[in-house]
Amino acid sequence: MAMARLKLPGKLEHALLAGHPWVYRDHVQRGFRAATGAWVEVECERFKGFALWDNEGPIALRMYSRKRVPDEQWLGERVAQAHELRQALLGEGTNAYRWLFGEGDGLPGLVVDRYGDYNVVLTYAPSVSRLLPWLVPALDRVLPARGTIQKRGSELALLSGELPPDRVEVLENGLRFQVAIGAGQKSGLFLDQRENRAHVESLSGGKRVLNLFSYTGGFSLYAVRGGATTVTSVDVSRGALDDARASFELNGFSAENHEFVAQDVFEYLERAASKGQRFGLVICDPPSFAKSRDQLRKALRAYERVNRLALKVVEPGGLFASASCTSQVSPEAFRGVLGEAAGRAKLRLQMIHEAGHAVDHPVMASHIEGRYLKYVVSRVLPSA
Ligand SMILES: C[S@@+](CC[C@H](N)C(=O)[O-])C[C@H]1O[C@@H](n2cnc3c(N)ncnc32)[C@H](O)[C@@H]1O
Repeated sequence: MAMARLKLPGKLEHALLAGHPWVYRDHVQRGFRAATGAWVEVECERFKGFALWDNEGPIALRMYSRKRVPDEQWLGERVAQAHELRQALLGEGTNAYRWLFGEGDGLPGLVVDRYGDYNVVLTYAPSVSRLLPWLVPALDRVLPARGTIQKRGSELALLSGELPPDRVEVLENGLRFQVAIGAGQKSGLFLDQRENRAHVESLSGGKRVLNLFSYTGGFSLYAVRGGATTVTSVDVSRGALDDARASFELNGFSAENHEFVAQDVFEYLERAASKGQRFGLVICDPPSFAKSRDQLRKALRAYERVNRLALKVVEPGGLFASASCTSQVSPEAFRGVLGEAAGRAKLRLQMIHEAGHAVDHPVMASHIEGRYLKYVVSRVLPSA
């Protein structure tokens, strides 16, 4: 069957020529028909490209190539090119990383995370499944896997090889992590914070550390290795804290000076503040507070509240490492929220470090929506 062709309104030409990979459904002429997962040849003034079509969802077309209809060889080239970028990570005692970061690696909607000998595939639109039969051999050509699975919610579908066990052990900067690929959040670990976790290690020496929204204790393990005197990990998920404890054991870290608190962070902070508890370093890495642009105001309010409460348990002159993974919140807006939270808590924040995602989460210059993680470290001073 001949490939569907579609002409788009000229106002999109600039963004498409710059390499923006998405076309929203509102921009597609009424009456255009194609099957989900069909390749479409798109034209827009001087722009021509090849995209996958979805019948549902706000993004109708994801753009893959300006040169040709993608095939197995084309996908293999993208997979190998993506792995080259990660090579620098691999010599340092790290075998858990994001191999493909969708739009940031030129493969919209497709993510592959590597955990030791296993690949975990995540797809963000039905059309992207079209790429899977080419993906598995392409991954294996670069780095053979014991198993490649697709994760949908907590369900795992085997794409090749064997299913991973319930818990897989991986290394991150020489630290051992127990990862629940199936039962865990995301693909198992929040790989995007790797470099920020290492930064926390450099700040932790001699400090009492509080890790809020700790998940499986990523920041906590680094804090212990960095010489923290005590580490308190707080997360509402008991399962995540069990895995945190297991990772402490794997690394030979005694759980003696370290507390694992299964509680809502907001409740924990109210109580800790009222009891006068203070910490030399507080890490705050909440889940995303907005799924779409119209939830932005609500998200900003939630960030202001959680940061204000967290700041109250930082000792005078102590450090505060605060993160946001909500893509709708820009780095400028996040800094604004931190300033507001400090002002309302009658404190001053001196920003000393800012960062984003780790190197295995690249962002295309033409697709700034791909940037989502903010990580800001500040010294906390009383008002003068
Ligand atoms: C972005 S993840 C944290 C990732 C972690 N910093 C790491 O490096 O692996 C957010 C965590 O917040 C937890 N969470 C969500 N809402 C919470 C709440 N109200 N109180 C406590 N934990 C919460 C989730 O269970 C999840 O583990």
